[in-house]
Amino acid sequence: MKLSERIGLIKPSATLAVSTKCKQLNAQGIRIINLSAGEPDFDTPENIKQAAIEAINNGFTKYTAVGGIDALKEAIVKKFRQDNNIEYGKENICVSDGAKHTLFNLFQVLLDKGDEVILPAPYWVSYEAGIRYAGANPIIVPTAPTGYKILPEALEEKITSRTKMVVLNSPSNPVGSAYSKAEIEKLTECALKHNLFIVSDEIYEKIVYDGFKPVSPASLSDEAKRKTLTVNGVSKTYSMTGWRIGWVGADSEIVKAMTKLQSQSTSNPCSIAQAAAVEALNGSQKSVEIMVDAFKERRDYFYNELKNIKGINCFKPNGAFYLFPDISGLYGRRFNGRKISSSIDFANLLIDEAKVASVPGIGFGDDNSLRFSYAASMEDIKEAVESIKSVVSQLE
Ligand SMILES: Cc1ncc(COP(=O)(O)O)c(C=O)c1O
Repeated sequence: MKLSERIGLIKPSATLAVSTKCKQLNAQGIRIINLSAGEPDFDTPENIKQAAIEAINNGFTKYTAVGGIDALKEAIVKKFRQDNNIEYGKENICVSDGAKHTLFNLFQVLLDKGDEVILPAPYWVSYEAGIRYAGANPIIVPTAPTGYKILPEALEEKITSRTKMVVLNSPSNPVGSAYSKAEIEKLTECALKHNLFIVSDEIYEKIVYDGFKPVSPASLSDEAKRKTLTVNGVSKTYSMTGWRIGWVGADSEIVKAMTKLQSQSTSNPCSIAQAAAVEALNGSQKSVEIMVDAFKERRDYFYNELKNIKGINCFKPNGAFYLFPDISGLYGRRFNGRKISSSIDFANLLIDEAKVASVPGIGFGDDNSLRFSYAASMEDIKEAVESIKSVVSQLE
């Protein structure tokens, strides 16, 4: 079958592939503790579900405006003003079917063949695919040696006449590292000096610990606002991954182009999910607090256990719900003759022998590490920790 050259440029999502394998094993009756998921294990809050039920009962079940209903755009404008100190108008907002879709749209409307996009690694899997699918080249900058954050010097060094954009994700998936205000200021200054677009993916901004305060590049100046695309959504904050609502705040010309693309592809995001997202943003935020407290307790436990395993080094995250331990200290060792030389080897060993699913770091551009999600019950995390320790202790 001759498929397009374009589709050959991308691979299936590594994270979704592990989740699928996990589900298959579970279906065969093999119990796997799934620490590979990229979604909160909490239910969508009741008030949000009720808003969706009301929308259905009121017949709010037809096409809507392509870039989202006014009520949702207004809620997003208010959210940007209150939480991020950014003054966007409705003309600066486009709502899509999840932030992944938002990112896909924005790469499509801003990038041309041969353009370069600076992508700090480890990175969330879909940035690379989205950039490549638009014909552009990701310029990958490893950040493990600098605390999992790109330094302004490293950014500057990678900029060429083809560089169009830099992608920042704070707090990050897969590490949970997050940039301070001073760091965001310096990176923004460097990007603006070279006339780059900044894609600021802030989807984990509410899932932060120890009083960390995220800062949006677009809040820094009018120029920064003009060149920044601020991406967010309801998936992680409100445990609404299945509802598929994400959005961008950006210059109105970019928003118009993204809306045009959407008008010819998916049309509007689901009307019912939009009504639910309005309630998520405007309603009580208590459920977010409860979820973040639970994540913090799990982070503290899991991090303290992992960092004490010999051969494993772990970064303590400021946000999101992942740990990304460096396991390269175990490379070269064997389990029953089975040699561990890569993140895929170790992730497979953990599935087979510890019955724990993780995501190999190679999928995020870092083959020295694994991603564990702690969006799982404390009992599961405790059991996983004991199994991981047992497998590591048997390495020769
Ligand atoms: C960093 C990051 N950005 C964006 C997304 C996309 O989220 P959604 O498409 O569910 O809104 C994810 C989901 O895993 C993510 O981790």
